[in-house]
Amino acid sequence: MLKPIKLSSKNFLSSLDTSCEEFFHILEMAKNFKNKDLNIKFKEKVLGLIFDKSSTRTRVSFQVAMSRLGGTTVDLNPNTSQIGRGEPIRDTARVLSRYCDVLAIRTFKQTDLEEYAKWSSKPVINALTDLEHPCQALADYMTIKEEFVDFKNVVLAFIGDGNNVANSLILCGALLGVEVRIACPKGYEPNSLLIDKAYEIYENKNLLKITNDPYTAVLGANVLYTDVWSSMGEENQKDEKEKVFNGFTIDSDLVTKANKDAIILHCLPAYRSKEITNSVIESKQSRVFEQAENRMHAQQALLSCLLL
Ligand code: CP
Ligand code: NVA
Repeated sequence: MLKPIKLSSKNFLSSLDTSCEEFFHILEMAKNFKNKDLNIKFKEKVLGLIFDKSSTRTRVSFQVAMSRLGGTTVDLNPNTSQIGRGEPIRDTARVLSRYCDVLAIRTFKQTDLEEYAKWSSKPVINALTDLEHPCQALADYMTIKEEFVDFKNVVLAFIGDGNNVANSLILCGALLGVEVRIACPKGYEPNSLLIDKAYEIYENKNLLKITNDPYTAVLGANVLYTDVWSSMGEENQKDEKEKVFNGFTIDSDLVTKANKDAIILHCLPAYRSKEITNSVIESKQSRVFEQAENRMHAQQALLSCLLL
């Protein structure tokens, strides 16, 4: 029977915290959890959730994944705990890691997440920061693998904002050798340090392309992906970004320019008629709900490795 493996990194703060082999192992375990071929229990283990931003999928998928592993979850609301009063992260992390066996944290700054990890004696998982969304990328590549079996001929075109989701897709793409194209308006490119890191990892540097033209990006692509134009914390940029991102909607016309077998992904929540049209998200090519379901299986696999 497939077994969890001890990961080389204590934490999962970034998509680069697993090796390619570890990433594949987590995906294999996730597939087995999904097919109910795997039954692993971590009785009495506790997952602590700290969410400084809203969440539906990440929160619930972690709760259910932990429950399926036989453990429990404590969901800390920053507004009703001392976190909201400004208790230092180094104190919160030291205390919570004496109660919990693993922590999943959604916050703004990656450096705050790193501060939690520095002071926590237990593994810390990135449940989304402004910089990365590595748990999302795990489920995304799981969904892609379900469709195309392996990553050899996959061309992923991300149309939209060069945000946390795009950053993690790029880093995993580099790890797995997947061709990733990002089409975004000028000035909204993914994080330049992460792009540099990705280029260092890619054996074939031509596999990562950043363009300002969605039509160029989708030619020959078999995965079309988008995310909201204004992420959490950018609410005040919403009006301006809606103007700048005009022309970056995944609509039926753009989909016809991609490969015939192309699937459509979106991490959700989606703003229909902004970054994606209703007809595309509801189309036969859409895999967004499989993708959302896979969050739970992928995180169950991740937790079982981190709890070893
Ligand atoms: N995709 C995702 O992380 O969704 P939530 O914000 O609902 O957790
Ligand atoms: N980029 C989005 C993802 C939401 C799951 C955000 O950060 O708000």
